[in-house]
Amino acid sequence: MAKKPGQVRDHAALMDSIYRGQKYIYDATRKYYLFGRDDLIRGLDCQPGDAVLEIACGTGRNLAKVQHAYPGTRLFGIDISAEMLKTAAGKLGTSAILAPADARQFDARAMLGRPTFERVILSYSISMIPDWDRALCHAAKLVAPGGSLHVVDFGSYSARPGLGPKILRWWLEQFHVSPRLDLPMVAEDLGSGPGWRREGRDGMGGYYRLERLYREQPQPD
Ligand SMILES: C[S@@+](CC[C@H](N)C(=O)[O-])C[C@H]1O[C@@H](n2cnc3c(N)ncnc32)[C@H](O)[C@@H]1O
Repeated sequence: MAKKPGQVRDHAALMDSIYRGQKYIYDATRKYYLFGRDDLIRGLDCQPGDAVLEIACGTGRNLAKVQHAYPGTRLFGIDISAEMLKTAAGKLGTSAILAPADARQFDARAMLGRPTFERVILSYSISMIPDWDRALCHAAKLVAPGGSLHVVDFGSYSARPGLGPKILRWWLEQFHVSPRLDLPMVAEDLGSGPGWRREGRDGMGGYYRLERLYREQPQPD
């Protein structure tokens, strides 16, 4: 079902209310609990000229690391929070094309100037997007033939019994974050479709989950 404009506005306002103040300390604090982001970036294996889109790019932390790890890539980012985009724009300057958009429905060609990308990233964002599986399906449609979709987010550790996971769950609730324990199943659904291949694995004993979906290059007849 299509999102009503009011619902999108409400979600954008919620994200802005969280990040208006947090954006100043985001990079310095999140490095202590958003693990696996550098693991994702290592697995991108970009070539010069590749277009890399981060959906829900936040402060632009990951795109800046991509630029450093893979010189010559072309960077693109969208986020629903205007507050986060201000920080990303300050960090990335003219090296990235950024636009305000809802991950669940946006026109990449109109907003970013191209319909598909060699690499598409979703990093610790599906846990904040209400109907995240829709965002994941949309992301898959933006992968160019021969390209790949890379997702990292909280894994099964967050649902285990014990004090550590309980504290983590409490902490994440403060930021409206809900770990998506069915990510492997949804990724398997997408990755078992024709022309796709999937690899998924846990990191740090299930603290984070990494999913990679590869879109095959059509073979010439
Ligand atoms: C925890 S931050 C992750 C930022 C960045 N990807 C990272 O790894 O540091 C979550 C981001 O998702 C964005 N977000 C949440 N819901 C969104 C949506 N529906 N569409 C686009 N961005 C969204 C938030 O504004 C925020 O910037």
